[in-house]
Amino acid sequence: MPVEYQHISVLKQEILELMKPQPGQHFIDGTLGGGGHTESILEQTSPDGKVLAFELDDRAIKAAKKRLKKYQERLIIVHKSYVHLKQEFKKHTKEFKKPSGIILDLGLSSDQLDRADRGFSFKDHGSLDMRFDKKGQTLTASDIILTWPEDKLIKIFREYGEVKQSKRLAKGFILWRQTLVKQKQKMLKTSMLVYVILRILNIKPDSVKRFRKHPATQVFQSLRIAVNGELDNLQSVLPQAIEVLPTGGRLAVISFHSLEDRIVKRYFKKLAQNCICPPTNPICNCDNEAQVKLVNKRAIKPSQAEITSNPRSRSAILRVIEKV
Ligand SMILES: C[S@@+](CC[C@H](N)C(=O)[O-])C[C@H]1O[C@@H](n2cnc3c(N)ncnc32)[C@H](O)[C@@H]1O
Repeated sequence: MPVEYQHISVLKQEILELMKPQPGQHFIDGTLGGGGHTESILEQTSPDGKVLAFELDDRAIKAAKKRLKKYQERLIIVHKSYVHLKQEFKKHTKEFKKPSGIILDLGLSSDQLDRADRGFSFKDHGSLDMRFDKKGQTLTASDIILTWPEDKLIKIFREYGEVKQSKRLAKGFILWRQTLVKQKQKMLKTSMLVYVILRILNIKPDSVKRFRKHPATQVFQSLRIAVNGELDNLQSVLPQAIEVLPTGGRLAVISFHSLEDRIVKRYFKKLAQNCICPPTNPICNCDNEAQVKLVNKRAIKPSQAEITSNPRSRSAILRVIEKV
């Protein structure tokens, strides 16, 4: 397991080109991670630009502090969820002015994915944990499998994983759970869950290679989203970001799957509309005015060169808006 914090920032050049950080400007980074995006913003805003950054993961904060040591006077790190963006921005108004841009690089880092003890990967044999913040959050993915009712399991598999066999899997887990409860299991292992998923779906371990995606991928994704309330968090932060931005300020969101991107795309489209009258209205009488303009009409994706050097970037989707 890697000891050093590992993560390669995605779409870094594109972020710089679209956010255009200038000396003295202030930015908010909602997902600091190892500090890759923040580092390039701090470089470009030298000598006195600032970043207000949010992060839930202790290990990421430690790594980012080390990496960004020379910028420490210009970096404020908040060990909280970005859902507190507006509140924390207000708290720091003495030393932090209205941001020229806000960045959200959603999901998890390679460091989190590659450390078996975090429980995010179906390739490892770690505890089925999946909390971004091990100290502040209590619910783990293991708790969900061990205690949530069948209908709630079906719901998260469908809504957060678009899992095709949600009912079959939920039923299978409930049966499996009876043995686990007898054994007084408190924390399951990722490999146990993978084994049971394959059993329920009647897939032999050695035939997994036939699948384009590992059959456990979507179940793991839905558990991760449920443990960390990821989609609710995203829905909560978008309006806060718009409120905090001044006219001309930009918001950039990097998503990694269609569920996140759908939320971002729909929200941006809604805010960019002037008229919100129903199509049956012969003339517009809504007096609505667009709050933002779309900086990129089409989603930006990593170049082939980036995907080759960092295959994990392949699913990244960047959308940027500007407040008007
Ligand atoms: C893809 S990584 C960010 C990488 C970072 N942009 C970089 O260049 O190093 C996403 C990070 O967001 C953090 N995160 C996820 N949800 C969060 C939330 N609601 N609030 C704050 N941080 C969050 C994760 O812990 C993870 O470290």
